[in-house]
Amino acid sequence: MQMLNIALPKGRLGDEAYAILASAGYACEGLEEDSRKLIFENDKLGIRYFWAKPADVGVYVERGAADVGIVGKDCLMEQSPDVYELMDLDIGNCKLAVAARKGFSDDGRSVLRVATKYVNCTRAYYESIGRDIDIIKLNGSIELAPVLGLSDVIVDIVQTGQTLKENGLEVIEDVEPISARLIANKANYEFKRERILKLIGALTMQKG
Ligand code: PRP
Repeated sequence: MQMLNIALPKGRLGDEAYAILASAGYACEGLEEDSRKLIFENDKLGIRYFWAKPADVGVYVERGAADVGIVGKDCLMEQSPDVYELMDLDIGNCKLAVAARKGFSDDGRSVLRVATKYVNCTRAYYESIGRDIDIIKLNGSIELAPVLGLSDVIVDIVQTGQTLKENGLEVIEDVEPISARLIANKANYEFKRERILKLIGALTMQKG
């Protein structure tokens, strides 16, 4: 049987996505074990999973190393990979938002300093509202930036709001709702259409 290659984002979202895939009939032995192994195959089902960095899933799928993948909408918006976005899995729900220290308000006078790892999303958002900004690219722990005076605001993912709260920050604007998406390589989608449609069907049943 032709193998279906599935890229999963390593981490909490990937674990949740795999749980849905497993209950949809796409289980794979060993995948949930705590190990450093990255690739897992189920020959009987003809599936091969691999764990990728969440921000790399789009690259694997765009270039066809994976036929399909699960990735957050935040990564899709930031990277715009040339892939098909097939389905909203309705997991990993959160939002991209602007946050600042409690009581901060943007008077619009000087250039706004914005710290983020979502440089493209941030640029697009502020362009859409016509606000001049200075982007400060960070790679994580973005919440530090306004606390230490590195930036006025941040653009980041907010899920429970706990990280903001514990660092004296609050959301001042919502940018975009985020959830996990099933994506596919465009050419491989044609070659493996039946298998991919079957996968979508099984996942849709799980969503209820
Ligand atoms: C993400 C995000 C926030 C946090 C939001 O960080 O960047 O920091 O989760 O979640 P909460 O609203 O439930 O507190 P992640 O754990 O991915 O690490 P990072 O800081 O390295 O980006």
